[in-house]
Amino acid sequence: MRVALLTGASSGMGFAVARRMGEEGYSLILNSRDPSEAVRRLEAEGYKAVGVPGDLAEPVTAEALLRAAERFGRLDALLLNHGGPPVKPLLEISEEEWRRYFELMVVGPLRLLRLLVPLFRRSGGGRVVAITSFTTKSPYPGAGLSNSLRAALLNALKTAALELGPEGILVNAVAPGYILTERIAEWNRAHAEREGVTEEEIARRTTASIPLRRYGKPEEAAEVAVFLLSPRNGYLTGQQVLVDGGLAV
Ligand SMILES: NC(=O)c1ccc[n+]([C@@H]2O[C@H](COP(=O)([O-])OP(=O)(O)OC[C@H]3O[C@@H](n4cnc5c(N)ncnc54)[C@H](OP(=O)(O)O)[C@@H]3O)[C@@H](O)[C@H]2O)c1
Repeated sequence: MRVALLTGASSGMGFAVARRMGEEGYSLILNSRDPSEAVRRLEAEGYKAVGVPGDLAEPVTAEALLRAAERFGRLDALLLNHGGPPVKPLLEISEEEWRRYFELMVVGPLRLLRLLVPLFRRSGGGRVVAITSFTTKSPYPGAGLSNSLRAALLNALKTAALELGPEGILVNAVAPGYILTERIAEWNRAHAEREGVTEEEIARRTTASIPLRRYGKPEEAAEVAVFLLSPRNGYLTGQQVLVDGGLAV
């Protein structure tokens, strides 16, 4: 049975990817700080899932995830995801915050990739997808941590695609635009506060700016990630696919 390991998988897009990978017949290793409820829901739906709780920024989490994958004896797909960083003006981001989110958004995902590559090799190749953001293409005011750190991860992953391609390990990113999850409520609250308007006004302006005139659904972003994570993706690597309703074309 094919095995998928997913971080940030207890809600939003990560959970939607996990469920679709379950439907595709993968055994699932789910990580987030508390994946227990997500594991329970997926098992209730008939999918094979185990949870590995832990913060992606911490080395012990990557080591626990490696042990879980080794128990399955193979790995076919890896989703790199986590929660979004705080929204605040660039010059209000402290040095401590830059370091903390660099650990979570750059060092953590790359550490996990490094630990898992030998297992991909033993499995004859694999697929890796990171959830990034449209802000890597169109930096957004108030989103300095996301704009900067996701761009760093994206270029590191493009490098991984170049270096791991000869071994059949395909590495890509999915950049969401505005996808209706808990994160959007948080984002709207923060920007409403920053701009001194209501959350409804932020939502109205946002949807008016999207060519498709609506938020995306987590399942719509997940569908693209699942394609990139599956063997149906045979020849696409080193790419970032925007799933943004046409926002940042
Ligand atoms: N929604 C959007 O429109 C949008 C747009 C652009 C970019 N993004 C980015 O895409 C990613 C996913 O977004 P989403 O909307 O699906 O977010 P979400 O619903 O908030 O889900 C985030 C997931 O990451 C887990 N998580 C949080 N911190 C973690 C950590 N330190 N280590 C491991 N897991 C962690 C959360 O579970 P626990 O709380 O159990 O840890 C949860 O499962 C986020 O980084 C977000 O900023 C989202």
